[in-house]
Amino acid sequence: MQPTAQNEARPSASPATAVAPLLSVKNIEVVYDEVILVLRGLSIEVPKGAIVALLGANGAGKSTTLKAISGLLRTEDGEVTRGEIVFDGHRIDGITPDKIVRRGIFQVMEGRRIISDMTSLENLRLGAFTRSDREVSRDIEMVYSYFPRLKERTGLAGYLSGGEQQMLAIGRAMMARPKMILMDEPSMGLSPLMVKEVFSIIKQINRDLGVTILLVEQNARAALSVASHGYIMEQGKVVLDGSADDLRDNEDVKEFYLGGAGDQRKSFKNLKSFKRRKRWL
Ligand SMILES: Nc1ncnc2c1ncn2[C@@H]1O[C@H](COP(=O)(O)OP(=O)(O)OP(=O)(O)O)[C@@H](O)[C@H]1O
Ligand SMILES: [Mg+2]
Repeated sequence: MQPTAQNEARPSASPATAVAPLLSVKNIEVVYDEVILVLRGLSIEVPKGAIVALLGANGAGKSTTLKAISGLLRTEDGEVTRGEIVFDGHRIDGITPDKIVRRGIFQVMEGRRIISDMTSLENLRLGAFTRSDREVSRDIEMVYSYFPRLKERTGLAGYLSGGEQQMLAIGRAMMARPKMILMDEPSMGLSPLMVKEVFSIIKQINRDLGVTILLVEQNARAALSVASHGYIMEQGKVVLDGSADDLRDNEDVKEFYLGGAGDQRKSFKNLKSFKRRKRWL
């Protein structure tokens, strides 16, 4: 059947559209040290060109999810023991992190992990380690056009401010020319003003370069301001997902993540919307 003009014009309300998503995480289980079960049947989808937010409290398993995708789990004695991860039509669970980078996924780690005793420029060049083309210098200028202050700071990266280090970490990911960037809490430790700046650049990079982004955040407000879709995790599973607009308006999400509940948080599982969702799972 030919798509009608009306169908084409309709914005996709959910990543589960007819077009295969760029990334599909299907019902994965992750175990650390052969015994600690952390992800318990987690499924998420990220459409090509989208920004998708993965939200949840401390210890929910957000970083573990990103490490399962990038293959970095194995550096921490973790393993995907069930389910599959499909990227761009190919299974990537079980392959090495460097091969996953070559397939086009680059992870910006939590806490930034830039190399502090190298300059910004050296850090950026490191991001291009998989490339053999001659356009690395041009891309460094492109990164500087998004983050002009990185060009001005010629000293060691360890002396950059928190926000500048975050910019450098994102710039280093861009140097790999990835199809997809996984970002782990880019807002961590930044002032509200700096969070705004970094997120606005994340949005620009997504729009200008078409890079797909999976964004892990505790700052739900900032993440939902740039994402089109969001997933909320609790104890190694998705408990709620929806368009960013719907999640922002959802009373439970407001209570849990957008201020309100304070320390009196109950489990998401006891809430009405979770029960509603569970019924038709
Ligand atoms: N290398 C590891 N070995 C054993 N257990 C781990 C390891 N890394 C994480 N865990 C456990 O897995 C669970 C999920 O951790 P993870 O870091 O994925 O959570 P998170 O959602 O990213 O939390 P945060 O918001 O605090 O960063 C936690 O209970 C944690 O203790
Ligand atoms: Mg984490």
